Parts: sequence; C-alpha cells; structure tokens
Amino acid sequence: MTFSKSFPEGFLWGGATAANQLEGAWNVDGKGLSVSDVYTFDINTPKERWLDQWLGMTHAQVREAQDPNSTKYYPKRKGNDFYHHFREDIALFAGMGFKCFRMSIAWTRIFPRGDESEPNEAGLKFYDEVFDALLSHGIEPIVSLSHYEMPLDLVTDYDGWPNRQVVDFYVRFATTCFTRYRKKVKYWMTFNEINCVKHHPYVSVGVIEEDNPHLEQDKYQGAHHQFVASALATKACHAIIPGSQVGCMISYQMLYPHTCHPDDLQACEEMQRVSLFFSDVQAHGYYPAYTERMLAEKGVTLQKVVGDDEILRLHPVDFVSFSYYMSSTVSANPEKLEGAEGNLITGGIRNPHLPTSQWGWQIDPKGLRLALNQLYDRYQKPLFIAENGLGAVDTVNPDGSINDDYRIDYLRQHIEQMQEALADGVDLFGYTWWGPIDVVSAGTAQISKRYGFIYVDQDDMGNGSQKRSLKKSYHWYKKVISSNGQDLTD
Ligand code: BG6
Repeated sequence: MTFSKSFPEGFLWGGATAANQLEGAWNVDGKGLSVSDVYTFDINTPKERWLDQWLGMTHAQVREAQDPNSTKYYPKRKGNDFYHHFREDIALFAGMGFKCFRMSIAWTRIFPRGDESEPNEAGLKFYDEVFDALLSHGIEPIVSLSHYEMPLDLVTDYDGWPNRQVVDFYVRFATTCFTRYRKKVKYWMTFNEINCVKHHPYVSVGVIEEDNPHLEQDKYQGAHHQFVASALATKACHAIIPGSQVGCMISYQMLYPHTCHPDDLQACEEMQRVSLFFSDVQAHGYYPAYTERMLAEKGVTLQKVVGDDEILRLHPVDFVSFSYYMSSTVSANPEKLEGAEGNLITGGIRNPHLPTSQWGWQIDPKGLRLALNQLYDRYQKPLFIAENGLGAVDTVNPDGSINDDYRIDYLRQHIEQMQEALADGVDLFGYTWWGPIDVVSAGTAQISKRYGFIYVDQDDMGNGSQKRSLKKSYHWYKKVISSNGQDLTD
C-alpha cells in the first residue's frame, strides 16, 4: 500500500525573516531602539566568543548601545537595508513563485518606547506598503508580532516581561496591528521561538542575565506573561479579523538519548519537556501536570492573576509552528563523557552519525520527519514549518555566479522528509525557508553566515554595495515551488 507524499493544494511555500535582521533603518521614521539593536560585531572576535552576547547580555553593553557616541558596529541596525529595498526584494521573492512570506513587524516602529498610548503613523505606513507589495504579487503575508525585538526601553525602564505591565503594552501593540492590517494579514504568530527564553532571556523576555539573583524566576514569570499576552492577542485577533489564524512558534530540536540506558532516555525526556512545555501551554491552553515539579525544582513560584488560567484555556492557538535546524543528543551524565563535544547553544552532545554545518549545527533531515510526527501526535493541530535552513559561507565566482549546491542538498533532503511526514498523515500547511535573502545572523550578528537564495553584497562589518544577486538555489527552489514540491531533481 502506498500513501500520498504529495503536498496539499495551496501549500504555502515561501521564506521567513525578522525585521531586526534585515530592515536596517534603525533610527528612521521614528523607530525606537530594540533589544536587538544592542548586539555588536567585531571582526577580531575569536570564533569561540561569537555567541557570548547572544547567550549572556551585559548591563555595560546595553548602556553603551544607548550612548549616541558609541563607536561600535551594530549589524542589526543595518540589516541588509530591506527598508529601502523591499519592493525589489519582494519582486525577487515573487520571481521564485513564493506563495507566502513570513516577516515580523518591528514593535519599535509602531511603539518606539513600547509604553506610548498612540502608535507611530510612519511605522504603520511602512508595513502597509510592504503588505501591499506582497499582495500585489499574490504573496500571503505571515506575520510574527514579536521576533527578538521588544523595545529596549521596556527592558531598561520596566525590567522586561516579568513586569505585568508589559502584557498591556504588547496587547496594545498587537491590537493596533490587527486593526490596521485586518484586510491584509490573515496569519499571525504571537512570539518567535517562545521556548528559547531558557537560553537567551535578554532577547526573549528582556531580562539581563548578568548578576541576576532570581534569573530562573524571571525567565518563567516572563514566559507566563507572554502566554497570557499571546492568549489575549489570539482573542483580539479572532474578534477583529474573522477567519484569522494565530499560531505559536517554538524552536524544535529532535533529541536523541546518547545511549539506550534508561537514565539517558529520562534525561532526554526531561529536556524535551523543558522545551515543549511552552507549546503545551499555548496549544492545549493549560499548564501540563509535569510543570509543577519542573518549576518547583527550578525554585520558580509563578505569580498568576485570577483569570489567567481561564484566558489560557479559552484562547489556545489555531496552529503550531516551529523552527527546525538540527538535532542533538542528551546524556544523563555529560560530564563523564570523555572527548564528547558539546552541541553549541543547547549544551547537548554531538551525534557521531550526523554531519555538521560550518557553524557547528548538526544537520538531520530525518529528524524533521520525526519532529513533524511528534508535534502532530502531541497537538493534533495544523503544523507550519516557520524556519529551516543552512547558514554557510558562499563564494562568488569571477563571473558573479554562486553555486550553492550544499544549500540545495540540505533543502532537498528536508523536503523529502516532509513528503514522508505527509504520507504519515501529518497535517502540514506551509514551509518557509529561513533567510531567503541573506540577513544578519541572530546568534552571531554576522551576515557571512548566509542562508539566502538571494545574495547580498555586504560583509560582516557592513561594507559592500548591498547589491542583490541570485544564487543557484534560487532557480532550484523556484522549480520546487512551481511543481508543488514534486520536482526535486537538479
Ligand atoms: C532562529 C531565529 O533561531 O534561527 C532566527 O528565529 C535566526 O531569528 C535563525 O536567524 C538562525 O539562527 P542564526 O543565529 O544562524 O541567525
């Protein structure tokens, strides 16, 4: 018996970005400073320190970023200047046949400080123009409201998401967007990778890790407030835009036990729960039973307001979206594993059976099929792959061509596994490749960690013409989209 590996009609093929990583124009038309405008890049930084800021922001760095005389280079303030190139870039996306484009609205363009009562009209107008350009090409916008870019003033003046007031600021922002764009945007995501607060609380919930005596409490209190804010936004979205679809968005890594020892499996399951707890709350509408022990063991006591649980229960998300880049393995005793290399970011153990990208991420297409099945089994809600991609160094040949076969291979292998998952019965309605045009890396703030099908002539220190050119993968993805995922040949 064979089961159909075909993508459903109307499948949303496209690409995904975030305002802070591509727009640039950080201080144009009234925009305020966001948490991401604080990251610096210095060409002399040794490779092993690239992730330092991402995993541990300092007070001094935040202060320096607020100083107008700072001489540091802040790559996310420059992006690839999509702000001034968006018509050209969207025409290139249309040339690939994009059905959808995932992007975020920079909160700081709409509410520059975050706590204003009235929005900034120039910011609202910019996104009107972006959505109009997308729609004129028949591209469906899919919008993240918060993608690592909350207003910096909400961190410095309000201490971030652990402060309940931030819920109100966010809901005002979300409601303003729903009202303004109700005729243009149907698909929304409330928080990008909401489960990553455990790795980088500064950019996720606006909590600076340095010298913080109640870091765990702040992380989870911030997350609770985001759950409530997300549910309130979902409620508002459904009321303002009939037929709208609101999704949660998590970072998903397949986790494998390092050995078949039951202790390794237990460690694996615990790590998976720490991650999936976030989508459990947002998709099911309640805190699962295991969270009581999990939070208590972290010394966390959540402060809930009467009515919070009901808000969560009444307004779960409509679909579950996730990013998938790699997998990792977990050991109950990682410190005893001699010679075992750690997996960057998550602290898992390297898997000897998988290749590794130039940035140390373990490439695992089969893990995507497993991930899709696990998430569908768990939530029984439509799934959307909001990010997947390969960051690599690209070489421009003397004739200007860029032969990124490694990116094509990565994409092909992942699409094949999506086909398998469809045959398994998973309800998958869209796929957006991360960074269809080269953008600044979230983690290392480099642009040389390139994901794009479209090359941007710019280096890690911001030099270059910003001219766009097409890589080999551009033409390949175009063929995939026009065949609705059937033609994966060269
Ligand atoms: C995801 C983020 O974690 O991974 C994106 O949502 C990010 O913002 C992407 O860009 C890839 O990570 P990086 O660090 O290579 O940019």
